[in-house]
Amino acid sequence: DMSEDERAFQARIDDGIKIEAKDWMPDAYRKTLIRQISQHAHSEIVGQLPEGNWVTRAPTLKRKSILLAKIQDEAGHGLYLYSAAETLGTSRDQLLDALHAGKAKYSSIFNYPTLSWADMGAIGWLVDGSAIINQIPLCRCSYGPYARAMIRVCKEESFHARQGYDIMMVLCKGTPQQKAMAQDALNRWWWPSLMMFGPSDAESVNSAQSSAWRIKLFSNDELRQKMVDQTVPQAEYLGLTVPDPDLKFNEETGHYEFGAIDWSEFHNVLKGNGPCNRERLQARVDAWEDGAWFREALVAHADKQADRAKA
Ligand code: ACO
Repeated sequence: DMSEDERAFQARIDDGIKIEAKDWMPDAYRKTLIRQISQHAHSEIVGQLPEGNWVTRAPTLKRKSILLAKIQDEAGHGLYLYSAAETLGTSRDQLLDALHAGKAKYSSIFNYPTLSWADMGAIGWLVDGSAIINQIPLCRCSYGPYARAMIRVCKEESFHARQGYDIMMVLCKGTPQQKAMAQDALNRWWWPSLMMFGPSDAESVNSAQSSAWRIKLFSNDELRQKMVDQTVPQAEYLGLTVPDPDLKFNEETGHYEFGAIDWSEFHNVLKGNGPCNRERLQARVDAWEDGAWFREALVAHADKQADRAKA
C-alpha cells in the first residue's frame, strides 16, 4: 500500500518528470540510488587499476598519452558520481570507508588481470563498450543529478571504446603473434564482459523496483543481448573468434543466441574471490593511506587561512 506522498511520487516518475535532490522521495528510492551510484563510482575508481598496469609499458608515446587520458577520464567519472551520490545525503568519506572496509561492491569486471597490451584493446572494446550500452539509458533515468552526470560520462566512454577497438584493429592487422594476443585477450574478457550486466532477470533482486522507479529502463538480459548483437559482427570484422561454441545467429529473431554463462564464476568474484579482488582493494587502501599527509596539509592550510581572515 502506497502513502499519498508515494502515489504522487510514482505519478511524477510515470509522467517522466525528473526527481531532484531536494524533492521528497521514498527512503527506499534514496537508498537504492545511493547503492547503485556509489557502486558505479567505486567501479570507475577501481577500474583505473587494470589499465594503470600498462601505462609504463604502452608500445608508443601516442598510445601512452591516449591511455593516460582515458584513465584520467575514469577518475573524473568517479568524482562526478560520488558528487551525485552526495546529493542524496551521504558523504564521500562514508562511501570511501565502505569501499576500503571491503563492504561496498564495485563491478566484477575489474577483478581480472591485464596480462598483455592486447588487454588494453579488449577492455576498451568490450568493457567500455558494455558500459556504454548500460549507461546510455541512465542518461534518461528518473534521478536528475545521476542522469545529467551520465551525459558527459557516455561521451567519454565512446572515446574509450573506440581507442580500444583501434588497438584491436592494429593488432589484428599485425604479425601472427599480435593477432594471437588479440584473440587471447578476447578469449579472457568475453565472458566476464557478459557478466558485467548483472545476474539474469530471473535472479536480479533489484530489477522490478528499479524499473518501476525508472532507474532501470532496460533489464540486465536485454542489455546483455544488445551487447552480444553489437559485438559479434565487430569480432568478425577483426577476424577473431568469439569463445562460445554455442553462439549462433537466429534469422527469425534477428538476435544472436549464446551459450550458458558460468554464474558460479560471477558469484565467486562478488564474494571477493576473483583473481584480483584482494590486490585491487589493497591498492585502493594503500592509495588512501599514502594520501593522508596531503589531506592533513589541506586542512592545516585551510585552518591557517581562516585564522588569517580572523586576524
Ligand atoms: N559486479 C558486481 N556486482 C554486481 C554486478 C557486477 N557486474 N551486477 C550486479 N551486481 C550486484 C548488484 O549490485 C546487486 O547487489 P546489491 O543488491 O548488494 O547491491 C546484486 O548483484 C543483484 O543484481 P541486480 O538486482 O541486478 O542489481 P541492480 O538492479 O543494481 O543491477 C547493474 C546491476 C545493472 C550493474 C546496475 O546497478 C547498474 O546499471 N549500475 C550502474 C552502472 C555501473 O555500475 N557500471 C559499473 C561498471 S562500468 C564502468 O565503470 C566502466
